[in-house]
Amino acid sequence: MSTASSIFDTPRRIKLGIWGLGRGLHLSGPCEALNFDVVAGLDFNPTMRADFTRRFPKALVTDDLEAFLGSECEAVLLASFLPNHADDAIRCLEAGKHVLSEVTAFMTIADAVRLVEAVERTGLVYQMAENYPYSAANMWLARKWREGLFGDFMYGEYEYVHEVLSLAFTHINGEPITPGHRVHSWRSWLNFHYYNTHSLGPIMQITRTRPEVVTSLPGTVSLPGYVIRNAEGMGGVSPSLIRMSNGGLVRNLMGATTNDSHIQRLWGTRGSAEQVEGRLLLRLGGYGSAPKCEVKPSLDSLGEMASKTGHGGGDFWVLYYFARQILEGAPGPFDVYTSADCTIAGIQAYRSQTQGGVPLPVPDLRDPAQRDAYRTDTFRQHAYDAEAGLFGMADPPPPAGRFTTAMRDLIAATNAVCAYRHWSQVAADMADEALLARLKADAEAAEPALAAAKHEAERLIAAFPATDAARILREVLERSDPGP
Ligand SMILES: NC(=O)c1ccc[n+]([C@@H]2O[C@H](COP(=O)([O-])OP(=O)(O)OC[C@H]3O[C@@H](n4cnc5c(N)ncnc54)[C@H](O)[C@@H]3O)[C@@H](O)[C@H]2O)c1
Repeated sequence: MSTASSIFDTPRRIKLGIWGLGRGLHLSGPCEALNFDVVAGLDFNPTMRADFTRRFPKALVTDDLEAFLGSECEAVLLASFLPNHADDAIRCLEAGKHVLSEVTAFMTIADAVRLVEAVERTGLVYQMAENYPYSAANMWLARKWREGLFGDFMYGEYEYVHEVLSLAFTHINGEPITPGHRVHSWRSWLNFHYYNTHSLGPIMQITRTRPEVVTSLPGTVSLPGYVIRNAEGMGGVSPSLIRMSNGGLVRNLMGATTNDSHIQRLWGTRGSAEQVEGRLLLRLGGYGSAPKCEVKPSLDSLGEMASKTGHGGGDFWVLYYFARQILEGAPGPFDVYTSADCTIAGIQAYRSQTQGGVPLPVPDLRDPAQRDAYRTDTFRQHAYDAEAGLFGMADPPPPAGRFTTAMRDLIAATNAVCAYRHWSQVAADMADEALLARLKADAEAAEPALAAAKHEAERLIAAFPATDAARILREVLERSDPGP
């Protein structure tokens, strides 16, 4: 069995820098076992830097990009702001560093061309840290798909439905954004098509196909409390329909709804698979009513080690493939071209929805002619002004600075109170009798916080009645209102 010191057949260590110490620090868990020594960390945020120093006391920690790039790190785990990934990755490559970039890879197809060419020019390793293909079930499916168990890929439905309202107002560690009149630099406005890799990535990896054409209709219904009012932002659903390179179809669903879910279904010409609530079920035999049974993917020793890390083992594998390519030269699944295929499908889906659902191609940037056709394509979603948008000015007077704390507290207390209130409406029919008692206790505990948050919200609304901030607060307050 592999041990922490014997995953790779070399004692060589890789000096790693981490840019962005929220997700970046979280992802660094398996580094030690995968021949990485973390030697530098970069973040503007002092709390994140303090967390990093507690974890890696001997490493350089800085808020200065030049100092970070001038450090001894030879590879960078890039977990900076999503819309900046292309520019940030290119900065690292040009400073001679290999790059493992968090998802997604870029915001425009012009950025993609620049990134592809920077990777080619420097000859350095670039991979995207798309981790959802590496759950035990998805890795097992990829193996069996290659062995031909499922036949030709016909259709797939994978989804990443994740309601993250509070992350518009807090950092990933739960701390309110400061100054408190600002919102998160991208989670406050990004359309979910730009976060498409956790659902499309696994299908590409399992079936070894690439997206070729994509279409998407614009929905207009969204959840309350989001910074962008309609389904344009992170509070709506963003499904796209994609034709893959073998002629199979994919429904790729992202978004925020009242039901976080990761249902994953694949249909081949010989058999099909579905993953629901952590179970993997197959139907094998090649006909519609063929026998159906759950399977439990067995894990090898590396898989066992991976399963103890974040995202069902996915976090281990993205670091593993990155280290493997640096140490042994073996390419990882998400090289710059595959990362571009996956990310561009989201950009084109968003563009399709702005054009009433017209089908759009997903250019293949391996082909120089297609690259040239998109070299100046800077189309992208317009960014919300995260600094001055909420209050209509960059430096609003007090109490605007209380806004992000008020939103965090209001959302948490409202969720607790509404869960009990809404479940009470079906109390007589609930299968889990103990659940209602637990929800009641949580709701009662949250009542004082709700009262305080409401008071704060009303104060802010009165002070800035005609702003986005007031509109957002009113929408959440309405949720918490028990009604007549
Ligand atoms: N694969 C996954 O499961 C997963 C999970 C969470 C986040 N992510 C990705 O990780 C990335 C980071 O996400 P996050 O949740 O940590 O939130 P985030 O985008 O708020 O974090 C970015 C961090 O980078 C720092 N930063 C950005 N540019 C900087 C610069 N030039 N100099 C210094 N510091 C800088 C910011 O201060 C911030 O702490 C995002 O791209 C996100 O998509 C992936």
